Amino acid sequence: MKAAGFFEFGGPDVLRVVEVATPVAGPGEVRVRVKAAGVQPFDVAVRSGWTPPGVVGGFPRVPGNEFAGVVDQVGAGVGEVLPEVLGFGRLGCYAEHVVVPADQVTAKPAGMPWEVAGGFTAGAQTAHIALRELGVGEGDTLIVHAAAGGVGSMAVQLAARWGARVIGTARAENHDYLRSLGATPVEYGDGLMDRVRELAPGGVDAALVAVGGEALAVSLALVEDRGRILTLVDHDKAPELGIRVTPNLRSAERLAELADLYARGELRFHVRSTYPLERAADAHRDVEAGHGRGKVVLTIG
Ligand SMILES: NC(=O)c1ccc[n+]([C@@H]2O[C@H](COP(=O)([O-])OP(=O)(O)OC[C@H]3O[C@@H](n4cnc5c(N)ncnc54)[C@H](OP(=O)(O)O)[C@@H]3O)[C@@H](O)[C@H]2O)c1
Repeated sequence: MKAAGFFEFGGPDVLRVVEVATPVAGPGEVRVRVKAAGVQPFDVAVRSGWTPPGVVGGFPRVPGNEFAGVVDQVGAGVGEVLPEVLGFGRLGCYAEHVVVPADQVTAKPAGMPWEVAGGFTAGAQTAHIALRELGVGEGDTLIVHAAAGGVGSMAVQLAARWGARVIGTARAENHDYLRSLGATPVEYGDGLMDRVRELAPGGVDAALVAVGGEALAVSLALVEDRGRILTLVDHDKAPELGIRVTPNLRSAERLAELADLYARGELRFHVRSTYPLERAADAHRDVEAGHGRGKVVLTIG
């Protein structure tokens, strides 16, 4: 089968279409003919030289942790599976086929386009897990840094649904977008802390830090309770600062709950851009640029 992978770490140019063995579903697994796969900053790190814990094996290395497609093989012991699914894996999703445990997929809502389904899993689950860790709910004022991005767009909507007031950081051109998701927008950069204090004179109760730079320091100054600051970026600093990181609690149940919200029109999803597998390098350049709304997605099948 075809996949987009690399034989050496490096810049986006190392990503190319490669031929690899088509995987086979073992006991408890399903094989999915992939129609779309999301592109994350995680994948850029993998391409640049980072090997995630627990990953073994050589090259070509194929990135991608989220996908949507059609189940075309079912391993022994797997019960009934609906054919059209979205799900998650650990690397390998920029490919025509992916094999994952059957409890890592859930049914794709009929009205969900493939490119939405392919990019939905990681950001939505990460946002959901992070907000639950922070205990966000009714009456809270939450700041989401990088609110227009893949994770941020989901976090803003979920927190607003759960009754929080959400302040989201983004460039001015993304402010209408943030308002449409339910956040009060604020521009990042010099003076961010003062702008947030003006918007929230009563204080900020919790912070989701989805970008590096000033976001962490501003959150530490604004939020009194360190247990209500969660970083998706500065993992190394979390223990000494006493702030949170996201535990790996991805599950088909959580994904199904989020997909259902989408199906009912209660969660919106913006696809920033799509690229065919052959242009995976351009998809990485897009993500590495670090700006824009929603998700970058590879369309495959
Ligand atoms: N995706 C996941 O599931 C996941 C899981 C765990 C951890 N993480 C980590 O969480 C971070 C965010 O992931 P993502 O997928 O949401 O990334 P992303 O979509 O690529 O983030 C791009 C967003 O960052 C914003 N941004 C750039 N510089 C900013 C700044 N200084 N202050 C505030 N916003 C800024 C941009 O907004 P403007 O266009 O307005 O500049 C853009 O909307 C990454 O470091 C990632 O590794 C992600």
